[in-house]
Amino acid sequence: MLPIASLLLTAAAVPAVQAQCSPLHYIFARATTEPPTGVDNASPEEFEEVANAFWSKGYGAAGYSIYDNVTALIPDTTGYPVHYPASFRPSSPDRGVEDLINHITTMSQQCPEQKYVLGGHSQGGVVTVNAIPQLPEEILSRVIAVTMVGSPDCPPEVEDRCRSYCNKGDFICERGFGGIGGIGGIGGIGGRSMRQRRTVLNARQALDCSGEEPPEKGHEAEGGQSAHLAYNEDGFYVYAAACYIQKQFQGVA
Ligand SMILES: *[C@@H]1O[C@H](CO)[C@@H](O)[C@H](O)[C@H]1NC(C)=O
Repeated sequence: MLPIASLLLTAAAVPAVQAQCSPLHYIFARATTEPPTGVDNASPEEFEEVANAFWSKGYGAAGYSIYDNVTALIPDTTGYPVHYPASFRPSSPDRGVEDLINHITTMSQQCPEQKYVLGGHSQGGVVTVNAIPQLPEEILSRVIAVTMVGSPDCPPEVEDRCRSYCNKGDFICERGFGGIGGIGGIGGIGGRSMRQRRTVLNARQALDCSGEEPPEKGHEAEGGQSAHLAYNEDGFYVYAAACYIQKQFQGVA
């Protein structure tokens, strides 16, 4: 859910044209076959209409939960789900890279003070690591954190501000995405993500981020499903990512 109250406050406090220039903008690319599906040829408007019918709003399960937890910590954060097919078609990741670059370029021009968080799950991580080397330094310097789950390792450009979380037994990231140029080896989430339980906290209580940062890799996820798909339901790396983003944001705010 979007933090409606804080959006309204922001809108009321600043001129209309500035209203969408939040201090922090979260851009996340979902994993293969996470909803919406069948959007290979969708316009941006169509993508949004279909995506908004799902609780995960086009961010994917882990991506939306990280976003939700970040907005509990940094209420003014806005977000954007990368508009791309997330399908098995070989062109899918490139479409994501293009959309990510277009979106962040437009936003960074409209909002000169805005900072960014990039991230993805699985194929979404491939989108993220392929887009980063193509971003100009002016934009890259405003990316304060990159958080991925079940994804390739952090690219060198953002090594100092990136976490690529990998569950124990998630063979897709444990094997370093070896040899996959495209998405053939990535594997789909299929209908499973839609059945993932949505744990809604009664109060939007902020996470306790005071503990030590956990290691990036090797957490043993709970639940019956495969480690590559367990990030949202397990929550461990969702919370770790949200706390990491907050720490990084505090460092620049
Ligand atoms: C935070 O992440 C957890 C675990 O994925 C999720 O269940 C929860 O709904 C998220 N949102 C908030 C506001 O805590």
